[in-house]
Amino acid sequence: MDIHELQQIVHKTRDARRKQTFPRLSPADRDQLIHKHHPDFRASAYRPLRFGPNEGEKTVIELATLLEGDSALNGQVDLTPQYQADVLVIGGGGAGCAAALHAHEAGAKVILATKLRLGDSNSVMAQGGMQISVAPEDSPVTHFIDTLKGGHMQNDHDLLKVMVEEGPSIAKWLIGLGVLFDRQADGNLHVKKGGGSSKPRLVTCSDYTGLEIMRVLKDEVINQKIQLLEFAAAIELLSDDEGNCTGAIFKDLDNHRHVVVAAKSVILATGGIGRLHIQGFPTSNHYGATGDGLCLAYRMGAKLAHIDTFQYHPSGAVYPEQLIGALVTEGIRSDGGQLVNAQGERFVNELDTRDVVSSSIIRECEEGRGIRTTAGRVGVWLDTPLLDAEHGAGTVEKHFPAMMLQFERFGIDISKDPVLIYPTLHYQNGGVRIDTNSETGVKNLFVAGEASGGLHGRNRLMGNSLLDLMVFGKRSGLTAATRTGSMKQGKLTLKHLERFRVEAKKHGNSSGVISPMVLPAYTRKVS
Ligand code: FUM
Repeated sequence: MDIHELQQIVHKTRDARRKQTFPRLSPADRDQLIHKHHPDFRASAYRPLRFGPNEGEKTVIELATLLEGDSALNGQVDLTPQYQADVLVIGGGGAGCAAALHAHEAGAKVILATKLRLGDSNSVMAQGGMQISVAPEDSPVTHFIDTLKGGHMQNDHDLLKVMVEEGPSIAKWLIGLGVLFDRQADGNLHVKKGGGSSKPRLVTCSDYTGLEIMRVLKDEVINQKIQLLEFAAAIELLSDDEGNCTGAIFKDLDNHRHVVVAAKSVILATGGIGRLHIQGFPTSNHYGATGDGLCLAYRMGAKLAHIDTFQYHPSGAVYPEQLIGALVTEGIRSDGGQLVNAQGERFVNELDTRDVVSSSIIRECEEGRGIRTTAGRVGVWLDTPLLDAEHGAGTVEKHFPAMMLQFERFGIDISKDPVLIYPTLHYQNGGVRIDTNSETGVKNLFVAGEASGGLHGRNRLMGNSLLDLMVFGKRSGLTAATRTGSMKQGKLTLKHLERFRVEAKKHGNSSGVISPMVLPAYTRKVS
């Protein structure tokens, strides 16, 4: 059957499904389901790290291979710096821009280096919104509890407390800079409910929230004349004799030369790992999401947290082929979009936590209730036309213009036809362990945003990532800037790399790959 014939079951069953309610799973049922069907529990996909700060802990094979990889640097390396900064920010997404802006405002000389262009990041692709407790019936405490439950109670309480408490001031900061969040008729911020949340708490800019935030942050970085190094891929950090971080070495992707930057503090804001395509999953992530910061920090001796858990977003596109893995925002389910199997049945509360929803979709497909495309892919339906049926014609177009456009390019009108979806690799729940100022176990090395770990426990809630990057971008920038006033620039050495290589040798050598990967494996080699 072609896709249009397969879609008919969704149209036929819509009226019968419309008023059905579906309870969220109890904690015990949730655990049983995800242990059976969530990719985090496929033992064969994991192996223990052989050496380094997390020696003995398990992570997915793709990440273990990179963390145990070797540096691209070989032989005598000239460490004479071409640039000098108080604060060096590595990464040009939301966390990097926030860190750079706050450090600059606090008086530091800031350099922002990014391997692609300023703004090229997952932040710019964020669709559904940012969780902030601004509604009268909500509070930071409720936000804290929802997030903790979503994270299987494994979240770092101190980080979480800081994030939920600082949310409202972040909204104020962004609005002050010019971000146009959606408003109600009375002028108050419009809020939506995300999966796993007990209250509406998502502030949005329709379905291009990240794009709007980044429009403003990028402008501000440029307006403030923060020094930028674009197409500069970080390939190694620098350390002094005590092992403190003192700068970084980049590869200029235009001319392949090394660029050495000396800095009193370094903030890694390098984002996620979607482009590792863990367990063969497609990804919603941007091209540069190759986990560079994790490798750099690990070699410096920084410990990672929760590296055995990843987020497979329930709704990645399965059709058409050109959109495989692209995000279909949870916002559609927030507004009532239902998930439907090949038999025309619902099978999960669409606003349960993402690990539950994804596991349920995988179960349906594994047990033969998925829909198979002629290209051999499998998925379930997301009933998008239901939104127009429930809330009036034009709803999908009004609330999800970016999503409409994404499919229109391939002749698909999602307000009329359902979308075929399957989980897509979206986020790393863990990352480099940080304290409440975003500092790692390595002095003067900070990590902000998705590359950091601990805050989200074992499953992040929708919209908490945008808030995470703003809060910890700010904290890292301010702490680094304040500290640098009283500091001298440390020596530039590669002693940490020498130590790492000795340790690798003791354990049978590195994995044989060069890390960071910089660009995905399927791209043209950067030599
Ligand atoms: O579905 C979404 O719009 C994704 C949001 C998020 O990961 O926070």
